[in-house]
Amino acid sequence: MTIQQAFLKTILDESSKHSIAQLFIHKGTCGEATDIVSVCEELGIIELAMSLNAKIIETSCDGRCWAAPSVTAQKNNDRGASYSRRFDRIDLGVNLKELGEVLDLSTVHNVFDDGATGLTSRFGQLDGSLLAAVELGAYGVAEKVFQQDQKSILSKIEESKLSGRGGAHFPTGLKWKLAAQNEGPRYLVVNAEEGEPGVFKDRHLLEADPHRLIEGILICCYAVGVEKAFVYINGQAHKGIESFMTALEQARNSGITGPEFLPEKMTVDIEVRAGAGGYVCGEESVILNSIEGARPVPRFKPPFATDQGLWGMPTVINNVETLAAVTTLWQDFPPPTKLVSLSGNIARPGVYEVPADGTLSWNGFLLSVGAELETVPAILLGGPSGTFVHRDKFEEQIEMKNIGAGGIFVLSPNSSVKEITNSLAGYNERESCGECTPCREGTMRLTELLQQETVDLKKVEELIEVMEEASLCMLGGMAGRPVKSAIENFPATWISTER
Ligand SMILES: Cc1cc2nc3c(=O)[nH]c(=O)nc-3n(C[C@H](O)[C@H](O)[C@H](O)COP(=O)(O)O)c2cc1C
Ligand code: SF4
Repeated sequence: MTIQQAFLKTILDESSKHSIAQLFIHKGTCGEATDIVSVCEELGIIELAMSLNAKIIETSCDGRCWAAPSVTAQKNNDRGASYSRRFDRIDLGVNLKELGEVLDLSTVHNVFDDGATGLTSRFGQLDGSLLAAVELGAYGVAEKVFQQDQKSILSKIEESKLSGRGGAHFPTGLKWKLAAQNEGPRYLVVNAEEGEPGVFKDRHLLEADPHRLIEGILICCYAVGVEKAFVYINGQAHKGIESFMTALEQARNSGITGPEFLPEKMTVDIEVRAGAGGYVCGEESVILNSIEGARPVPRFKPPFATDQGLWGMPTVINNVETLAAVTTLWQDFPPPTKLVSLSGNIARPGVYEVPADGTLSWNGFLLSVGAELETVPAILLGGPSGTFVHRDKFEEQIEMKNIGAGGIFVLSPNSSVKEITNSLAGYNERESCGECTPCREGTMRLTELLQQETVDLKKVEELIEVMEEASLCMLGGMAGRPVKSAIENFPATWISTER
Protein backbone atom coordinates (compact mmCIF):
# COMPACT_ATOMS: atom_id res chain seq x y z
CA MET A 1 0.00 0.00 0.00
CA THR A 2 1.42 3.40 -0.99
CA ILE A 3 1.47 6.24 1.52
CA GLN A 4 -1.23 7.97 -0.49
CA GLN A 5 -3.44 4.84 -0.43
CA ALA A 6 -2.91 4.41 3.30
CA PHE A 7 -3.69 8.07 3.82
CA LEU A 8 -6.97 7.99 1.93
CA LYS A 9 -7.96 4.82 3.78
CA THR A 10 -7.67 6.62 7.11
CA ILE A 11 -10.19 9.18 5.88
CA LEU A 12 -12.56 6.54 4.55
CA ASP A 13 -12.32 4.44 7.70
CA GLU A 14 -13.91 7.30 9.56
CA SER A 15 -16.96 6.77 7.41
CA SER A 16 -20.10 6.17 9.37
CA LYS A 17 -22.70 3.94 7.79
CA HIS A 18 -24.75 6.05 5.42
CA SER A 19 -28.51 6.02 5.60
CA ILE A 20 -29.84 4.12 2.66
CA ALA A 21 -32.02 6.99 1.55
CA GLN A 22 -30.65 10.46 1.08
CA LEU A 23 -32.31 13.73 0.20
CA PHE A 24 -30.06 16.32 -1.41
CA ILE A 25 -31.23 19.91 -1.08
CA HIS A 26 -29.61 21.94 -3.85
CA LYS A 27 -28.55 25.05 -2.00
CA GLY A 28 -26.25 26.61 -4.56
CA THR A 29 -26.49 30.23 -5.63
CA CYS A 30 -29.60 29.45 -7.73
CA GLY A 31 -31.16 27.42 -4.90
CA GLU A 32 -30.61 30.22 -2.41
CA ALA A 33 -31.95 32.79 -4.84
CA THR A 34 -35.17 30.79 -5.01
CA ASP A 35 -35.27 30.25 -1.23
CA ILE A 36 -34.99 26.48 -1.39
CA VAL A 37 -35.01 25.88 2.35
CA SER A 38 -38.30 27.71 2.90
CA VAL A 39 -39.80 25.92 -0.09
CA CYS A 40 -38.82 22.54 1.38
CA GLU A 41 -40.31 23.48 4.72
CA GLU A 42 -43.45 24.88 3.20
CA LEU A 43 -44.05 21.76 1.14
CA GLY A 44 -43.18 19.41 3.99
CA ILE A 45 -40.37 17.80 1.97
CA ILE A 46 -38.04 17.70 4.97
CA GLU A 47 -40.72 16.10 7.13
CA LEU A 48 -41.36 13.55 4.42
CA ALA A 49 -37.68 12.70 4.18
CA MET A 50 -37.37 12.40 7.95
CA SER A 51 -40.36 10.09 8.16
CA LEU A 52 -38.61 7.88 5.61
CA ASN A 53 -35.38 7.94 7.66
CA ALA A 54 -33.57 9.66 4.82
CA LYS A 55 -30.36 11.50 5.50
CA ILE A 56 -30.88 15.17 4.63
CA ILE A 57 -27.91 16.72 2.87
CA GLU A 58 -27.51 20.38 1.98
CA THR A 59 -25.49 20.44 -1.20
CA SER A 60 -24.61 22.56 -4.21
CA CYS A 61 -26.42 23.16 -7.47
CA ASP A 62 -26.06 20.11 -9.69
CA GLY A 63 -25.86 22.21 -12.84
CA ARG A 64 -29.61 22.35 -13.31
CA CYS A 65 -30.00 26.02 -12.44
CA TRP A 66 -33.20 25.97 -14.48
CA ALA A 67 -34.86 23.60 -12.02
CA ALA A 68 -34.21 25.66 -8.90
CA PRO A 69 -35.54 25.33 -6.27
CA SER A 70 -34.95 21.59 -6.47
CA VAL A 71 -34.09 18.51 -4.42
CA THR A 72 -32.83 15.11 -5.44
CA ALA A 73 -33.56 11.87 -3.65
CA GLN A 74 -31.30 8.86 -3.73
CA LYS A 75 -32.00 5.36 -2.60
CA ASN A 76 -29.45 2.54 -2.28
CA ASN A 77 -26.92 4.76 -4.03
CA ASP A 78 -29.24 4.72 -6.97
CA ARG A 79 -29.49 8.36 -7.87
CA GLY A 80 -32.47 9.25 -9.91
CA ALA A 81 -35.17 11.17 -8.17
CA SER A 82 -35.54 14.88 -8.51
CA TYR A 83 -38.24 17.32 -7.68
CA SER A 84 -38.34 20.89 -8.84
CA ARG A 85 -40.73 23.46 -7.44
CA ARG A 86 -40.77 25.19 -10.79
CA PHE A 87 -42.44 22.18 -12.27
CA ASP A 88 -44.65 21.62 -9.25
CA ARG A 89 -45.34 18.00 -9.92
CA ILE A 90 -44.74 16.42 -6.57
CA ASP A 91 -47.38 14.59 -4.64
CA LEU A 92 -46.25 14.63 -1.06
CA GLY A 93 -47.77 11.22 -0.53
CA VAL A 94 -45.08 9.65 -2.72
CA ASN A 95 -42.18 7.75 -1.26
CA LEU A 96 -38.60 8.35 -2.29
CA LYS A 97 -38.74 5.76 -5.01
CA GLU A 98 -41.72 7.39 -6.64
CA LEU A 99 -40.05 10.75 -6.34
CA GLY A 100 -37.70 9.33 -8.96
CA GLU A 101 -40.38 9.55 -11.55
CA VAL A 102 -41.03 13.21 -10.93
CA LEU A 103 -38.38 14.90 -13.02
CA ASP A 104 -37.28 13.77 -16.43
CA LEU A 105 -33.73 12.63 -15.86
CA SER A 106 -32.79 12.88 -19.50
CA THR A 107 -32.41 16.56 -18.69
CA VAL A 108 -29.44 16.22 -16.36
CA HIS A 109 -26.59 18.67 -16.55
CA ASN A 110 -24.32 16.17 -18.22
CA VAL A 111 -24.77 15.95 -21.98
CA PHE A 112 -21.70 13.72 -22.10
CA ASP A 113 -23.11 10.21 -22.14
CA ASP A 114 -20.86 8.90 -19.38
CA GLY A 115 -21.82 11.11 -16.45
CA ALA A 116 -19.75 9.00 -14.06
CA THR A 117 -16.28 10.08 -15.13
CA GLY A 118 -16.58 13.70 -16.13
CA LEU A 119 -15.93 16.98 -14.40
CA THR A 120 -19.46 17.29 -13.07
CA SER A 121 -19.73 13.74 -11.74
CA ARG A 122 -19.84 14.90 -8.10
CA PHE A 123 -21.98 18.02 -8.66
CA GLY A 124 -24.91 18.23 -6.27
CA GLN A 125 -23.89 15.13 -4.32
CA LEU A 126 -21.44 16.35 -1.70
CA ASP A 127 -22.31 17.51 1.79
CA GLY A 128 -19.32 19.81 2.16
CA SER A 129 -17.19 17.28 4.03
CA LEU A 130 -13.85 15.89 2.94
CA LEU A 131 -15.13 12.41 3.66
CA ALA A 132 -17.99 12.65 1.16
CA ALA A 133 -15.59 13.95 -1.49
CA VAL A 134 -13.06 11.15 -0.90
CA GLU A 135 -15.82 8.55 -0.92
CA LEU A 136 -16.79 9.77 -4.38
CA GLY A 137 -13.22 9.59 -5.63
CA ALA A 138 -11.53 12.88 -4.70
CA TYR A 139 -7.73 12.63 -4.49
CA GLY A 140 -7.83 9.12 -5.99
CA VAL A 141 -6.18 10.34 -9.19
CA ALA A 142 -3.48 12.29 -7.31
CA GLU A 143 -2.80 9.18 -5.29
CA LYS A 144 -1.94 7.30 -8.51
CA VAL A 145 -0.20 10.21 -10.21
CA PHE A 146 2.12 10.78 -7.27
CA GLN A 147 3.68 7.37 -7.94
CA GLN A 148 5.06 8.77 -11.21
CA ASP A 149 7.94 11.14 -11.78
CA GLN A 150 7.37 14.72 -12.87
CA LYS A 151 8.56 14.10 -16.42
CA SER A 152 5.98 11.37 -17.02
CA ILE A 153 3.21 13.60 -15.70
CA LEU A 154 4.25 16.49 -17.93
CA SER A 155 4.32 14.13 -20.94
CA LYS A 156 0.89 12.78 -20.04
CA ILE A 157 -0.59 16.29 -19.90
CA GLU A 158 0.97 17.12 -23.28
CA GLU A 159 -0.25 13.86 -24.87
CA SER A 160 -3.75 14.47 -23.55
CA LYS A 161 -3.84 17.73 -25.56
CA LEU A 162 -5.56 19.43 -22.64
CA SER A 163 -6.08 23.08 -23.52
CA GLY A 164 -6.75 26.12 -21.35
CA ARG A 165 -10.41 26.42 -20.44
CA GLY A 166 -10.13 30.15 -19.65
CA GLY A 167 -10.92 30.77 -23.31
CA ALA A 168 -7.64 30.96 -25.23
CA HIS A 169 -7.11 27.15 -25.27
CA PHE A 170 -3.33 27.37 -24.94
CA PRO A 171 -1.84 23.84 -24.54
CA THR A 172 -1.62 23.17 -20.80
CA GLY A 173 1.19 20.60 -21.07
CA LEU A 174 3.40 23.09 -22.90
CA LYS A 175 2.67 25.81 -20.34
CA TRP A 176 3.63 23.53 -17.46
CA LYS A 177 6.77 22.36 -19.25
CA LEU A 178 7.95 25.90 -20.00
CA ALA A 179 7.60 26.92 -16.35
CA ALA A 180 9.17 23.69 -15.06
CA GLN A 181 12.32 24.18 -17.12
CA ASN A 182 13.02 27.59 -15.54
CA GLU A 183 14.84 28.04 -12.24
CA GLY A 184 12.52 28.49 -9.25
CA PRO A 185 10.97 29.42 -6.98
CA ARG A 186 7.96 28.83 -9.24
CA TYR A 187 4.36 29.81 -8.61
CA LEU A 188 0.91 28.66 -9.64
CA VAL A 189 -1.93 31.15 -10.03
CA VAL A 190 -5.44 29.78 -10.36
CA ASN A 191 -7.66 32.12 -12.34
CA ALA A 192 -11.08 32.02 -10.69
CA GLU A 193 -11.97 35.59 -11.59
CA GLU A 194 -14.72 34.71 -14.09
CA GLY A 195 -15.83 38.27 -14.68
CA GLU A 196 -17.06 37.58 -18.22
CA PRO A 197 -20.83 38.12 -18.45
CA GLY A 198 -22.70 34.90 -19.15
CA VAL A 199 -20.00 32.58 -17.77
CA PHE A 200 -20.65 30.91 -14.42
CA LYS A 201 -19.11 27.44 -14.71
CA ASP A 202 -16.04 28.13 -12.52
CA ARG A 203 -18.28 29.32 -9.70
CA HIS A 204 -20.19 26.07 -9.99
CA LEU A 205 -16.94 24.12 -9.78
CA LEU A 206 -15.86 26.07 -6.70
CA GLU A 207 -19.22 25.59 -5.02
CA ALA A 208 -19.95 22.03 -6.12
CA ASP A 209 -16.59 20.26 -6.05
CA PRO A 210 -13.78 22.36 -4.54
CA HIS A 211 -11.69 19.30 -3.69
CA ARG A 212 -11.43 18.52 -7.41
CA LEU A 213 -9.75 21.88 -7.90
CA ILE A 214 -7.40 21.32 -4.96
CA GLU A 215 -6.47 17.92 -6.41
CA GLY A 216 -5.69 19.52 -9.79
CA ILE A 217 -3.63 22.22 -8.05
CA LEU A 218 -1.58 19.61 -6.18
CA ILE A 219 -0.92 17.59 -9.35
CA CYS A 220 0.25 20.76 -11.13
CA CYS A 221 2.43 21.80 -8.18
CA TYR A 222 4.12 18.41 -8.03
CA ALA A 223 4.65 18.19 -11.81
CA VAL A 224 6.00 21.74 -12.18
CA GLY A 225 7.79 22.00 -8.82
CA VAL A 226 5.65 24.66 -7.16
CA GLU A 227 5.29 25.17 -3.43
CA LYS A 228 3.16 28.31 -3.41
CA ALA A 229 -0.16 28.63 -5.21
CA PHE A 230 -2.57 31.56 -5.27
CA VAL A 231 -6.24 31.07 -6.01
CA TYR A 232 -7.59 34.38 -7.29
CA ILE A 233 -11.36 34.34 -6.85
CA ASN A 234 -13.83 37.00 -7.96
CA GLY A 235 -14.72 38.91 -4.79
CA GLN A 236 -18.41 38.76 -5.69
CA ALA A 237 -18.44 34.95 -5.78
CA HIS A 238 -19.23 34.74 -2.07
CA LYS A 239 -20.44 31.15 -2.04
CA GLY A 240 -17.51 30.01 -4.18
CA ILE A 241 -15.02 31.64 -1.80
CA GLU A 242 -16.73 30.14 1.24
CA SER A 243 -16.92 26.67 -0.24
CA PHE A 244 -13.31 26.70 -1.47
CA MET A 245 -11.97 28.06 1.85
CA THR A 246 -13.79 25.32 3.76
CA ALA A 247 -12.38 22.61 1.50
CA LEU A 248 -8.90 24.10 1.72
CA GLU A 249 -9.00 24.09 5.48
CA GLN A 250 -10.14 20.45 5.44
CA ALA A 251 -7.32 19.53 3.07
CA ARG A 252 -4.74 21.40 5.17
CA ASN A 253 -5.96 20.04 8.49
CA SER A 254 -5.95 16.48 7.27
CA GLY A 255 -2.46 16.75 5.78
CA ILE A 256 -3.42 16.55 2.10
CA THR A 257 -1.37 19.63 1.22
CA GLY A 258 1.67 18.39 3.13
CA PRO A 259 4.20 15.56 3.27
CA GLU A 260 1.64 13.08 4.69
CA PHE A 261 0.07 12.95 1.22
CA LEU A 262 2.40 14.71 -1.21
CA PRO A 263 5.48 12.97 -2.58
CA GLU A 264 9.08 14.00 -1.89
CA LYS A 265 8.15 15.54 1.47
CA MET A 266 6.55 18.46 -0.36
CA THR A 267 4.25 21.02 1.19
CA VAL A 268 2.11 23.25 -0.99
CA ASP A 269 0.92 26.51 0.49
CA ILE A 270 -2.36 27.50 -1.15
CA GLU A 271 -3.53 31.05 -0.54
CA VAL A 272 -6.86 32.57 -1.55
CA ARG A 273 -7.02 36.13 -2.85
CA ALA A 274 -10.34 37.79 -3.62
CA GLY A 275 -10.26 40.08 -6.64
CA ALA A 276 -12.33 43.21 -7.05
CA GLY A 277 -14.32 41.79 -9.96
CA GLY A 278 -14.48 43.20 -13.49
CA TYR A 279 -13.82 41.78 -16.92
CA VAL A 280 -10.19 42.86 -17.27
CA CYS A 281 -9.37 41.54 -13.77
CA GLY A 282 -9.46 38.04 -15.31
CA GLU A 283 -6.64 38.84 -17.73
CA GLU A 284 -3.69 36.91 -16.41
CA SER A 285 -1.13 39.69 -16.07
CA VAL A 286 -3.68 41.90 -14.29
CA ILE A 287 -3.98 39.13 -11.71
CA LEU A 288 -0.20 39.02 -11.32
CA ASN A 289 -0.11 42.77 -10.66
CA SER A 290 -3.04 42.52 -8.29
CA ILE A 291 -1.41 39.74 -6.25
CA GLU A 292 1.83 41.74 -6.07
CA GLY A 293 -0.12 44.76 -4.83
CA ALA A 294 0.59 46.77 -7.98
CA ARG A 295 -1.95 48.70 -10.08
CA PRO A 296 -4.27 46.09 -11.65
CA VAL A 297 -3.53 46.72 -15.33
CA PRO A 298 -2.14 44.32 -17.97
CA ARG A 299 1.60 43.86 -18.46
CA PHE A 300 3.47 43.90 -21.74
CA LYS A 301 4.15 40.41 -23.14
CA PRO A 302 6.79 39.06 -23.58
CA PRO A 303 8.09 38.22 -21.10
CA PHE A 304 5.47 35.53 -20.60
CA ALA A 305 4.47 34.41 -17.12
CA THR A 306 6.11 31.00 -17.53
CA ASP A 307 9.45 32.91 -17.71
CA GLN A 308 8.76 35.94 -15.56
CA GLY A 309 5.48 35.96 -13.71
CA LEU A 310 4.91 36.68 -10.03
CA TRP A 311 7.82 38.71 -8.64
CA GLY A 312 9.72 37.95 -11.85
CA MET A 313 9.67 34.20 -11.24
CA PRO A 314 8.27 31.41 -13.49
CA THR A 315 4.52 31.17 -12.99
CA VAL A 316 1.82 28.88 -14.35
CA ILE A 317 -1.55 30.59 -14.67
CA ASN A 318 -4.46 28.26 -15.22
CA ASN A 319 -8.20 28.54 -15.23
CA VAL A 320 -10.21 26.67 -12.54
CA GLU A 321 -11.74 24.29 -15.08
CA THR A 322 -8.35 23.50 -16.67
CA LEU A 323 -6.96 22.32 -13.32
CA ALA A 324 -10.15 20.46 -12.49
CA ALA A 325 -9.99 18.74 -15.89
CA VAL A 326 -6.47 17.49 -15.08
CA THR A 327 -8.08 15.07 -12.60
CA THR A 328 -10.06 13.42 -15.41
CA LEU A 329 -7.10 12.57 -17.64
CA TRP A 330 -5.85 9.34 -16.10
CA GLN A 331 -8.62 7.15 -17.50
CA ASP A 332 -8.65 4.82 -20.47
CA PHE A 333 -10.96 7.20 -22.27
CA PRO A 334 -10.69 10.67 -20.72
CA PRO A 335 -13.93 12.60 -21.15
CA PRO A 336 -13.54 14.96 -24.12
CA THR A 337 -15.71 17.54 -22.43
CA LYS A 338 -16.05 21.24 -21.78
CA LEU A 339 -18.27 22.97 -19.27
CA VAL A 340 -20.64 25.47 -20.78
CA SER A 341 -22.78 28.13 -19.11
CA LEU A 342 -26.12 28.29 -20.87
CA SER A 343 -28.51 31.25 -20.66
CA GLY A 344 -31.02 33.23 -22.71
CA ASN A 345 -34.00 31.96 -24.70
CA ILE A 346 -33.84 28.38 -23.46
CA ALA A 347 -36.00 26.19 -21.27
CA ARG A 348 -33.14 24.82 -19.20
CA PRO A 349 -30.36 27.32 -18.49
CA GLY A 350 -27.52 26.09 -16.32
CA VAL A 351 -24.09 24.48 -16.43
CA TYR A 352 -23.63 21.54 -18.79
CA GLU A 353 -20.76 19.22 -19.53
CA VAL A 354 -20.69 18.71 -23.28
CA PRO A 355 -18.44 16.68 -25.57
CA ALA A 356 -16.31 19.13 -27.54
CA ASP A 357 -14.55 16.62 -29.76
CA GLY A 358 -16.71 17.09 -32.84
CA THR A 359 -19.26 14.40 -31.98
CA LEU A 360 -22.15 16.70 -31.06
CA SER A 361 -23.71 19.40 -33.24
CA TRP A 362 -25.20 22.66 -32.00
CA ASN A 363 -28.57 21.29 -33.07
CA GLY A 364 -28.05 18.18 -30.97
CA PHE A 365 -26.98 20.17 -27.94
CA LEU A 366 -29.77 22.74 -28.19
CA LEU A 367 -32.42 20.05 -28.57
CA SER A 368 -31.09 18.18 -25.55
CA VAL A 369 -31.47 21.29 -23.37
CA GLY A 370 -35.02 22.00 -24.43
CA ALA A 371 -34.63 24.49 -27.27
CA GLU A 372 -37.41 25.01 -29.75
CA LEU A 373 -35.06 25.33 -32.67
CA GLU A 374 -37.45 27.27 -34.88
CA THR A 375 -37.43 30.05 -32.27
CA VAL A 376 -33.64 30.37 -32.13
CA PRO A 377 -32.17 32.70 -34.76
CA ALA A 378 -28.61 32.36 -33.41
CA ILE A 379 -26.49 31.81 -30.34
CA LEU A 380 -23.76 34.05 -28.98
CA LEU A 381 -20.66 32.11 -28.00
CA GLY A 382 -18.80 34.02 -25.32
CA GLY A 383 -19.86 37.47 -24.23
CA PRO A 384 -18.06 40.75 -24.95
CA SER A 385 -15.41 39.10 -27.11
CA GLY A 386 -17.65 36.37 -28.49
CA THR A 387 -19.04 35.42 -31.89
CA PHE A 388 -22.50 34.64 -33.19
CA VAL A 389 -23.39 31.23 -34.59
CA HIS A 390 -26.22 31.73 -37.10
CA ARG A 391 -28.96 29.06 -37.13
CA ASP A 392 -27.79 28.08 -40.66
CA LYS A 393 -24.64 26.75 -38.98
CA PHE A 394 -26.32 24.74 -36.21
CA GLU A 395 -25.45 21.54 -38.08
CA GLU A 396 -21.78 22.24 -37.35
CA GLN A 397 -20.08 20.22 -34.64
CA ILE A 398 -18.99 21.66 -31.30
CA GLU A 399 -15.20 21.88 -31.27
CA MET A 400 -13.06 22.81 -28.27
CA LYS A 401 -11.14 25.47 -30.19
CA ASN A 402 -14.32 27.35 -31.13
CA ILE A 403 -16.01 27.42 -27.79
CA GLY A 404 -13.96 30.00 -25.84
CA ALA A 405 -14.67 29.96 -22.12
CA GLY A 406 -18.02 28.25 -22.77
CA GLY A 407 -20.58 31.04 -22.39
CA ILE A 408 -23.60 30.29 -24.60
CA PHE A 409 -26.38 32.85 -24.87
CA VAL A 410 -29.42 31.75 -26.88
CA LEU A 411 -31.12 34.52 -28.85
CA SER A 412 -34.90 34.77 -29.15
CA PRO A 413 -36.96 35.78 -32.21
CA ASN A 414 -37.33 39.23 -30.61
CA SER A 415 -33.60 39.69 -30.05
CA SER A 416 -32.04 42.52 -31.96
CA VAL A 417 -28.54 41.53 -33.04
CA LYS A 418 -27.72 45.18 -33.48
CA GLU A 419 -28.80 46.05 -29.95
CA ILE A 420 -26.87 43.13 -28.49
CA THR A 421 -23.78 44.11 -30.47
CA ASN A 422 -24.05 47.74 -29.40
CA SER A 423 -24.52 46.73 -25.82
CA LEU A 424 -21.40 44.49 -25.94
CA ALA A 425 -19.44 47.35 -27.49
CA GLY A 426 -20.62 49.63 -24.67
CA TYR A 427 -19.62 47.01 -22.13
CA ASN A 428 -16.09 46.79 -23.56
CA GLU A 429 -15.85 50.58 -23.50
CA ARG A 430 -16.83 50.67 -19.82
CA GLU A 431 -14.54 47.77 -18.87
CA SER A 432 -11.49 49.10 -20.74
CA CYS A 433 -8.91 49.89 -18.07
CA GLY A 434 -7.65 52.84 -20.10
CA GLU A 435 -4.01 51.78 -19.98
CA CYS A 436 -3.47 51.78 -23.77
CA THR A 437 -4.76 54.19 -26.39
CA PRO A 438 -6.02 51.74 -29.07
CA CYS A 439 -8.49 50.24 -26.61
CA ARG A 440 -9.27 53.29 -24.45
CA GLU A 441 -10.08 55.44 -27.50
CA GLY A 442 -10.96 52.59 -29.87
CA THR A 443 -13.75 51.06 -27.77
CA MET A 444 -15.27 54.52 -27.38
CA ARG A 445 -15.06 55.28 -31.11
CA LEU A 446 -16.46 51.85 -31.97
CA THR A 447 -19.52 52.42 -29.77
CA GLU A 448 -20.06 55.80 -31.40
CA LEU A 449 -19.73 54.41 -34.92
CA LEU A 450 -22.17 51.58 -34.22
CA GLN A 451 -24.77 54.00 -32.86
CA GLN A 452 -24.94 55.98 -36.11
CA GLU A 453 -28.07 55.53 -38.14
CA THR A 454 -25.93 54.63 -41.14
CA VAL A 455 -23.00 52.60 -39.94
CA ASP A 456 -19.78 53.23 -41.84
CA LEU A 457 -18.62 49.62 -42.10
CA LYS A 458 -15.29 50.52 -43.68
CA LYS A 459 -14.39 52.74 -40.74
CA VAL A 460 -15.59 50.05 -38.33
CA GLU A 461 -13.36 47.45 -40.00
CA GLU A 462 -10.32 49.73 -39.99
CA LEU A 463 -10.80 50.65 -36.35
CA ILE A 464 -11.16 47.02 -35.31
CA GLU A 465 -7.98 46.16 -37.19
CA VAL A 466 -6.04 48.81 -35.25
CA MET A 467 -7.48 47.59 -31.96
CA GLU A 468 -6.59 43.99 -32.82
CA GLU A 469 -3.03 44.87 -33.78
CA ALA A 470 -2.12 47.49 -31.21
CA SER A 471 -4.01 46.84 -27.97
CA LEU A 472 -1.98 45.90 -24.93
CA CYS A 473 -4.24 43.03 -23.92
CA MET A 474 -6.96 40.96 -25.52
CA LEU A 475 -9.83 42.97 -24.07
CA GLY A 476 -9.07 45.58 -26.71
CA GLY A 477 -7.72 42.94 -29.09
CA MET A 478 -11.01 41.05 -29.17
CA ALA A 479 -13.51 43.86 -28.57
CA GLY A 480 -14.26 43.94 -32.31
CA ARG A 481 -15.01 40.21 -32.60
CA PRO A 482 -18.75 40.31 -31.86
CA VAL A 483 -19.10 43.31 -34.18
CA LYS A 484 -17.33 41.57 -37.06
CA SER A 485 -19.29 38.40 -36.44
CA ALA A 486 -22.63 40.26 -36.31
CA ILE A 487 -21.90 42.04 -39.58
CA GLU A 488 -20.85 38.78 -41.25
CA ASN A 489 -23.79 36.72 -39.99
CA PHE A 490 -26.53 39.32 -40.20
CA PRO A 491 -25.49 41.62 -43.06
CA ALA A 492 -29.03 42.89 -43.66
CA THR A 493 -29.08 44.39 -40.16
CA TRP A 494 -26.40 46.90 -41.08
CA ILE A 495 -27.44 49.70 -43.35
CA SER A 496 -24.06 50.77 -44.53
CA THR A 497 -22.13 53.09 -46.69
CA GLU A 498 -19.86 51.43 -49.22
CA ARG A 499 -17.20 49.12 -47.82
C1 LIG B 1 -10.24 40.60 -20.73
C2 LIG B 1 -9.87 39.19 -20.37
C3 LIG B 1 -10.56 38.54 -19.35
C4 LIG B 1 -10.22 37.25 -19.02
N1 LIG B 1 -10.92 36.64 -18.00
C5 LIG B 1 -10.58 35.38 -17.63
C6 LIG B 1 -11.25 34.75 -16.56
O1 LIG B 1 -12.16 35.31 -15.95
N2 LIG B 1 -10.89 33.48 -16.24
C7 LIG B 1 -9.86 32.84 -16.89
O2 LIG B 1 -9.51 31.73 -16.53
N3 LIG B 1 -9.23 33.41 -17.92
C8 LIG B 1 -9.55 34.67 -18.29
N4 LIG B 1 -8.86 35.26 -19.30
C9 LIG B 1 -7.76 34.50 -19.94
C10 LIG B 1 -6.50 34.60 -19.07
O3 LIG B 1 -5.79 35.77 -19.45
C11 LIG B 1 -5.58 33.38 -19.27
O4 LIG B 1 -5.43 33.12 -20.63
C12 LIG B 1 -6.10 32.11 -18.59
O5 LIG B 1 -6.39 32.33 -17.23
C13 LIG B 1 -5.05 31.02 -18.71
O6 LIG B 1 -5.51 29.83 -18.17
P1 LIG B 1 -5.84 28.56 -19.07
O7 LIG B 1 -4.66 28.35 -19.97
O8 LIG B 1 -6.01 27.46 -18.11
O9 LIG B 1 -7.07 28.90 -19.82
C14 LIG B 1 -9.17 36.57 -19.69
C15 LIG B 1 -8.50 37.23 -20.72
C16 LIG B 1 -8.85 38.52 -21.07
C17 LIG B 1 -8.10 39.18 -22.17
S1 SF4 C 1 -6.50 46.64 -24.21
FE1 SF4 C 1 -7.97 47.81 -22.96
S2 SF4 C 1 -8.15 46.65 -21.10
FE2 SF4 C 1 -6.28 45.95 -22.14
S3 SF4 C 1 -4.65 47.27 -21.36
FE3 SF4 C 1 -5.41 48.30 -23.14
S4 SF4 C 1 -6.95 49.70 -22.30
FE4 SF4 C 1 -6.58 48.19 -20.72
